[in-house]
Amino acid sequence: MLTEQVVASFENTPNPRLRALMQSLVRHLHAFVRETEPTEAEWMTAIRFLTETGKMCDDVVRQEFILLSDTLGVSMLVDAINHRYATGATETTVFGPFYMEGMPERTFGENMAHTPGEPVVVRGRVLTIDGAPITDAVLDVWQTAQNGMYSGQDTQQPHGNLRGRYRTDAEGRYAITTILPVSYPIPTDGPVGKMLDATGRHPWRPAHLHFMIEAPGYRTLVTHLFDESDPYLKSDAVFGVKPSLMVEYRQRDAHDQLARQFELSGPYREATYDFTLDRG
Ligand code: BEZ
Ligand code: FE
Repeated sequence: MLTEQVVASFENTPNPRLRALMQSLVRHLHAFVRETEPTEAEWMTAIRFLTETGKMCDDVVRQEFILLSDTLGVSMLVDAINHRYATGATETTVFGPFYMEGMPERTFGENMAHTPGEPVVVRGRVLTIDGAPITDAVLDVWQTAQNGMYSGQDTQQPHGNLRGRYRTDAEGRYAITTILPVSYPIPTDGPVGKMLDATGRHPWRPAHLHFMIEAPGYRTLVTHLFDESDPYLKSDAVFGVKPSLMVEYRQRDAHDQLARQFELSGPYREATYDFTLDRG
């Protein structure tokens, strides 16, 4: 039959992994078409949808294909397959499309927020699986402003706003001063937004801070910390929530020792979290 003919056409692919991927893709794609029997108009709609998705991708901050993979749960499936063995390391979640390289190096506890919000300190340690501190680990951190947009995505925000690279000290400690993250909708002005709308799905993500943590000799950790009180934890538009990644932002006094250390002049909140890295 046609399907087997197409599968056979990849038989001479020199790279065996590419051969397996292409043949499996053809089998599953054909099975989908046989099951759903699209009209020619529906197939053209699908092609137009993918064309529009590709047109909304750039090298900086817009990547509609990542958004599509995320909203279809494929990003979290790839994540689960690649981190399927429990090692004791901190759990991973989606990378998302809004990471930017080369963001400012920040000192211990430095404030990375240059737009308004409720002040928070996020602190803890980066540890090995055996509980030993990891010195000089780099924590690349990013979050949205109160308007739900990332700097870079929102050109009104100062360069590097709510982004930064923090380093752990000799005891493996890190500290970040920032603002309380808010829940926000993923971009809905493209084909993915239309898909969510047409299927009655909402675009909201629960409030979170993004982390990419690197240390020589350890596996890079891509994860988030979620606010445990967020109403969207059970319906994240990209299925990224894991219970082990939730934190409480506790209310703290304006004049306590930590407020003095990080030069906070009013009441603030504090969340604590220890990250654990797997050996590379
Ligand atoms: C994010 O958290 O930045 C994100 C993740 C997936 C899709 C869109 C945004
Ligand atoms: Fe995000």
